[in-house]
Amino acid sequence: MHSESQEELRAHWDGRYRGGQTPWDTGIAPPEVQAFWKEQPKPARGSFALDIGCGTGLNTLFLARQGLYAIGFDLSGQALQLALQRREAIGRDEQLVTEGKAIFVQGDVSRLPLDSLGAVYALDIGCLHSLPDELRPAYAEGVHKSLKEGGHFHLYVFDRSSSDGPGARGMRDGEVAELFYNRLEILTEEIGVSSTLASRPSRWFLLRKTSQFP
Ligand SMILES: C[S@@+](CC[C@H](N)C(=O)[O-])C[C@H]1O[C@@H](n2cnc3c(N)ncnc32)[C@H](O)[C@@H]1O
Repeated sequence: MHSESQEELRAHWDGRYRGGQTPWDTGIAPPEVQAFWKEQPKPARGSFALDIGCGTGLNTLFLARQGLYAIGFDLSGQALQLALQRREAIGRDEQLVTEGKAIFVQGDVSRLPLDSLGAVYALDIGCLHSLPDELRPAYAEGVHKSLKEGGHFHLYVFDRSSSDGPGARGMRDGEVAELFYNRLEILTEEIGVSSTLASRPSRWFLLRKTSQFP
């Protein structure tokens, strides 16, 4: 059973950002996310989206560019400072404030304070798979509560490997289905498609909250 405190986890992630050990920070929104939004109708004005474990905010800003009010959450203050710098640099050129908007909140994603937010979309690239096992059910409940009916959840995870240490634990086979059972339905599961993000086995999931799971 894991025993890291929230402070230890935060220190771990702050250290990664401080030391520039962030291979996931590719500078481009993943093709899977871009393709999803290319196919979607323009979101209704004032629609919310969440970027869960947003890191330096690249994808939060991508979502704001789609016309969404995008909320990026992260435990790491170091990451969020970089996100704010990124927003400022981009905001000067692209008036993100005119249609969408990106805001950043420091918080623990296993305690998402967003009941009934009614988000149309939530994104997690590489956060859930790093959470200690015992925090994952609360995380899943938080995602479920923050989405509106019909809202999508886009999730990128590593498969679990026996050598995983803190910060990269991966997901057991079938774990996503278990965690979201009676919460969200899995629409698609694609294996190892995003080789730009990791050289290890990984998956993209697209899930949706239906009226079956209010
Ligand atoms: C692999 S990074 C991915 C960052 C971002 N999604 C991206 O694609 O650039 C995982 C992120 O999850 C954050 N994180 C890990 N555990 C967290 C928690 N319990 N609450 C909030 N954020 C967390 C880390 O600080 C880190 O920024």
